[in-house]
Amino acid sequence: MLNDKKILFSGMQATGSLTLGNYLGALKNWLALNDDYECFYCVVDLHSITIRQDPSELRKRARDLLTLYIAAGLDPVKNCIYFQSHVPGHAELSWILNCFTYMGELNRMTQFKDKAQKHADNINAGLFTYPVLMASDILLYQADIVPVGVDQKQHLEITRTIAQRFNAIYGDVFTVPEGYFGKNSAKIMSLQDPSKKMSKSDENPNASIYLLDDEATIRRKFKRAVTDSVAKIAYDDAQPGVKNLLDIYCASTGKDIKDALGEFEGQGYGVLKDAVSDAVCALIIPLQERFNELKKDKEYIDSVIKENAQRAYYASEKTLRKVKKKVGFPEKIK
Ligand code: TYM
Repeated sequence: MLNDKKILFSGMQATGSLTLGNYLGALKNWLALNDDYECFYCVVDLHSITIRQDPSELRKRARDLLTLYIAAGLDPVKNCIYFQSHVPGHAELSWILNCFTYMGELNRMTQFKDKAQKHADNINAGLFTYPVLMASDILLYQADIVPVGVDQKQHLEITRTIAQRFNAIYGDVFTVPEGYFGKNSAKIMSLQDPSKKMSKSDENPNASIYLLDDEATIRRKFKRAVTDSVAKIAYDDAQPGVKNLLDIYCASTGKDIKDALGEFEGQGYGVLKDAVSDAVCALIIPLQERFNELKKDKEYIDSVIKENAQRAYYASEKTLRKVKKKVGFPEKIK
């Protein structure tokens, strides 16, 4: 991977089942960008233990997520696809950057406030410093671009703040990354309450399309999606359910809103829902087939895990060596 391409970093948590929001908000953009960048796609398992996990379940989900990245079309030779816990630099840099992040900044993170409320019996220090670990993920690889959903915007902003602060003290150590947010897909909403983000942790299974839902389930969930009584297909904040369906349709097909509105002019919501189901199934069902095939090839997945961890380690050490020197740690004697 020695070339002069700019660097892309992104990751996902292996908790819960991936949703269409994860796919359209992140993975689909990863696929669109991966020819133009040198890419690191991480399964961020260190982040997952900020919430209590069942160990065997976490292990299985992490491996499935890595397999899903490949099934989605990311080539593990061209891209570095790996587990965060296999590269010690993430945790090391996170410690160092903890010392360059203020409590007040972390206190303002809305995701911390939400998660602390949801898990009031386990408000651990890791949950609080989660954004510093995320900043470390990104800065460790000198990423130029970070494709994510809009819910990660605040975390990206703090990453930039930390990088700029560190650079102001020690010179240009870190690349200051930019976020990349997809058109029509940066925030896919719940199918049952379109004022809320579609989320893995939603208690109502009808609120989310899961990437491993079968075709009949996907169609049923879209049929039941909440719309309104306006009975007109328009892209309007006053019709958030219909707006969300149009966003899903456009993000899935690559069409723009204007064309979609032309296509559905004078039609009822049933027609829109069927078209959205068709578009989503055309994306997801082939992905599921590749996923089920790949899962059987244990040896291949093992080799990806081994080789890519080494590649990520090598890239991470380059930054880490520089950072350690800058902050004044004694050099290792060889
Ligand atoms: P996570 O695992 O919650 O979500 C993975 C990605 O999916 C996006 N996403 C959505 N996009 C649009 N609409 C939705 N409804 C929706 N739900 C989720 C998220 O924005 C994200 O891009 N903290 C991160 C993981 C992380 C990371 C990183 C990401 C850790 N280190 C470094 C980028 C770079 C998270 O929990 O994402």
